[in-house]
Amino acid sequence: QAASSLQEMFEPSSSSVYEENADINWDELGFSLRPTDYMYTMKCSKDENFSQGELNRYGNIELSPSSGVLNYGQGLFEGLKAYRRVDGSILLFRPEENAQRMKMGAERMCMPSPSINQFVNAVKETVLANKRWVPPPGKGSLYLRPLLIGTGPVLGLAPSPDYTFLIYASPVANYFKEGFAPLSLLIDNEFHRSTPGGTGHVKTISNYAPVLKPQSQAKNRGFSDVLYLDSVQKKYLEEVSSCNIFLVKGNTILSPATQGTILAGITRKSIIDLARDIGYQVEERQIPVEELIDADEVFCTGTAVVVAPVGSVEYQGKRFEYNTGAGTVSQKLYSTLTGIQTGLLEDKMGWTVEI
Ligand code: COI
Repeated sequence: QAASSLQEMFEPSSSSVYEENADINWDELGFSLRPTDYMYTMKCSKDENFSQGELNRYGNIELSPSSGVLNYGQGLFEGLKAYRRVDGSILLFRPEENAQRMKMGAERMCMPSPSINQFVNAVKETVLANKRWVPPPGKGSLYLRPLLIGTGPVLGLAPSPDYTFLIYASPVANYFKEGFAPLSLLIDNEFHRSTPGGTGHVKTISNYAPVLKPQSQAKNRGFSDVLYLDSVQKKYLEEVSSCNIFLVKGNTILSPATQGTILAGITRKSIIDLARDIGYQVEERQIPVEELIDADEVFCTGTAVVVAPVGSVEYQGKRFEYNTGAGTVSQKLYSTLTGIQTGLLEDKMGWTVEI
């Protein structure tokens, strides 16, 4: 209800125009927060289900100092994007996948979660309320950040008594400052991202602060980011701080199997399907670090990152270099994926949702 009146407010004439976009320089977008107009909030206590959410002006939220999220990191986040089509309409990419992943993560983190429908509808309402912030075609996307956090007070270690599901939005373009330039990754075997039996496979907020130190050390040495190895044998590729990793060897594309320690990325899953669809053989398995030696290409995938070519990986002082740029497999997959996401290519997979 609220969303449709907001939609009328922003778009009095027709749903197929986008001239009323916010008045900002769309060419200057990177991946930093640009606050938008509205955020979505829905609350419940631990023995209830989420029921009724609402849109409010974007702004700070009030939180108990003893909330579960602040004290014990009881929280999950998601990331998904809305794209502007050339006719002005707006597409979401696989929002029900994010809803499902949040549900699975909430189960692991002892939290109630919104239903798939509640999640997807909340995303739609948030996009419509912030419609003027969906960049014009070719200029980026509106990044949606759903959060599920324990907001009720706890002192002893226990699940929070109350929870908040929240979505805010920010227009974004390229994630890495490199833009479309190839990334340089460092394998750092001192730090590990995840451990068997832990939470590496769920999108909990507590997986991300621990990578800040290795990431900033790598950046200080001129690398784009860190590629982590498994924490037990310290030899298998896992993922990069904010994205999944792929190798290309001839007609075969490889990605570490998501067995508990690796985030099952939605872009990762989509790239695997697209690669198979255009004739590549895809293997999801354990990949020893030595396999980097004879890879033709390496690339990263993620919602924020999309598909980013890796130009080099350094491991134990040795630097391996890879094909990047025009004609590469990653370039082909990038064009196909973004073509579908922005409505330029036919969506044979049925992944996009028009709002
Ligand atoms: C995303 O790709 O949406 C993520 O959640 C990664 C985040 C660290 C930016």
